[in-house]
Amino acid sequence: MSVPLLIQTSINKSRGETAGQVKKFRLSGKFLMRKAFVAGNWKMNTDSQGSVSLADGVACGSMDIAGRSVDVAVIPPFVYLQAVVRALNQSHIAVGAQDMYYEEKGAFTGEISTSMLKDAGCIYVLCGHSERRHVIGESDELVNKKVTAAISGGLLPIFCVGEKLEEREASQTNEVVTRQVKRGLAGLDVEKVSAVTIAYEPVWAIGTGRTATPQQAQEVHAMIRKLLGQMYDAQLAEELRILYGGSAKPGNAAELMREQDIDGLLVGGASLNADDFVAIIKAAV
Ligand code: PGA
Repeated sequence: MSVPLLIQTSINKSRGETAGQVKKFRLSGKFLMRKAFVAGNWKMNTDSQGSVSLADGVACGSMDIAGRSVDVAVIPPFVYLQAVVRALNQSHIAVGAQDMYYEEKGAFTGEISTSMLKDAGCIYVLCGHSERRHVIGESDELVNKKVTAAISGGLLPIFCVGEKLEEREASQTNEVVTRQVKRGLAGLDVEKVSAVTIAYEPVWAIGTGRTATPQQAQEVHAMIRKLLGQMYDAQLAEELRILYGGSAKPGNAAELMREQDIDGLLVGGASLNADDFVAIIKAAV
């Protein structure tokens, strides 16, 4: 069993899931499971008080299921990480960071390392979110360095990929996503890649209210899973969780989650309201 799964087990401190609460797959005569995972990316929102009350609201509303039948994470801005970690201390909700730098320490003004994030209580870190790629200008190579450093430092990366509208319209979705996955995971062996959660987030669906249809999302998720099978092996491809992100909300979460290869949701806007985020968590079970 790889280290990342042990980390996840310790977050969940688990009580067994029921058959209906996890997706099951038969592979080589063996059942493998992918537990649902819902993460809320708060982006550059909230303040010190608001971040704690949002965390409290999510913890309260999801108390019965978080960590049991669904893994839950919140991803606040850096400056509120420790306050949110404290607020969630008694819960089974993990905390993640929105970004990190790949160097361990030194003269990198403004950057934050994996050890600092771990010290602050983070379990997850987003790598290659589309706003980092397209607003800040991060390349596939930089994202790869971050994913690699996150894993070496003991964090679980949520590695984001997704095509822009013009790329979808030019039928380049598979090509773009394949390139991002291959370059983003370059140099990582199967053991290391098992620490990764992939998030497919079509750029045209992020913050636009325009969600990919469940079929559109499923097609890309299945393509990514097949690619993982080619890059690594069938077991890794079946085990790795692939989240969908892009205008996920209470009204569409259940139908997205019904798709075979959609294992969870990375939620932006709707994660800023505790009731909406809790409704999404419940829809994922
Ligand atoms: P959204 O953001 O849910 O507001 O579209 C998703 C994301 O950027 O992760």
